[in-house]
Amino acid sequence: MEYQNLAIKNEDNILVVTLNRPKALNALNKQTMDELAHFFGEDETPKQLAIKGIVVTGAGEKAFVAGADIKEFLGMDAEAGSRLSRRGNDIMFLIERFPKPVIAAVNGFALGGGCELAMACHIRIAGEKARFGQPEVNLGIIPGYGGTQRLIQHVGKGKAMELAMTADMIGAEEAKALGLANHVVPVGEEVNKAKEIINKIAKKAPIAIAKVIECTNAYFTDCVNGFETEINSFGALTGSADFVEGASAFVEKRRAAFKGK
Ligand code: CAA
Repeated sequence: MEYQNLAIKNEDNILVVTLNRPKALNALNKQTMDELAHFFGEDETPKQLAIKGIVVTGAGEKAFVAGADIKEFLGMDAEAGSRLSRRGNDIMFLIERFPKPVIAAVNGFALGGGCELAMACHIRIAGEKARFGQPEVNLGIIPGYGGTQRLIQHVGKGKAMELAMTADMIGAEEAKALGLANHVVPVGEEVNKAKEIINKIAKKAPIAIAKVIECTNAYFTDCVNGFETEINSFGALTGSADFVEGASAFVEKRRAAFKGK
């Protein structure tokens, strides 16, 4: 697929994915959603062993992503609305379940679908000017890309209810205090901080990292027993070549050379 709205750069084997519609504050139109689905689904490049992780950010100085593209909502009926929400949810799950670290570098407005996209990523770095919110009730709808569920996971039920009912925006420091942002950094440093964390993770065993993601997500997945997922994952990892290498390297007092096997 040729990407039109995603600008993708390989920077030292970290794929920096920039939502690139700055004139529309990087709003998620259908084309952009199709491209995200392809990138996190069918595209083989992000899955290559050499790729350490993904950084998702927004073009321009103003916005990470200002939400779903409201201009595409006009004329939408209930059936089309359900389809849009289901597709959006499916794409957010692709991101959340991606087996390598995916970090949102939130450089401005992260509203509606933009906040939902950031929440589907594994970690969020907020620039000092970042603004998070779920303003959908202003439009007569609710968050539709998993926001009603993931906001609770990040900030707890009471605050999630307040944010989604008042449509209030919160700044970077408040987002950090609530557990929504992992770190707050100066403007312009969002991507660098995300890359620093991915480079740290890249020194660990890749299959173990994928299992951390799977087991953490299991806690939030209906009908999946997270403890069983952990037990099975632990067992599978102890049978891996990287576990032999990691344990041997510790005993031999040297740095482990993991191969992702
Ligand atoms: N969809 C489409 N276009 C958008 C957009 C969106 N979500 N957000 C901003 N834009 C466009 C504006 O229409 C404007 O385009 P024009 O110049 O062609 O008019 C351009 O981006 C710049 O925006 P503003 O002039 O409004 O910029 P501002 O600085 O005055 O305000 C803002 C910034 C507060 C973010 C404001 O743009 C805003 O409130 N945007 C909408 C936010 C929103 O409601 N998001 C939720 C969308 S619904 C959703 O996401 C549902 C879901 O869960 C799936």
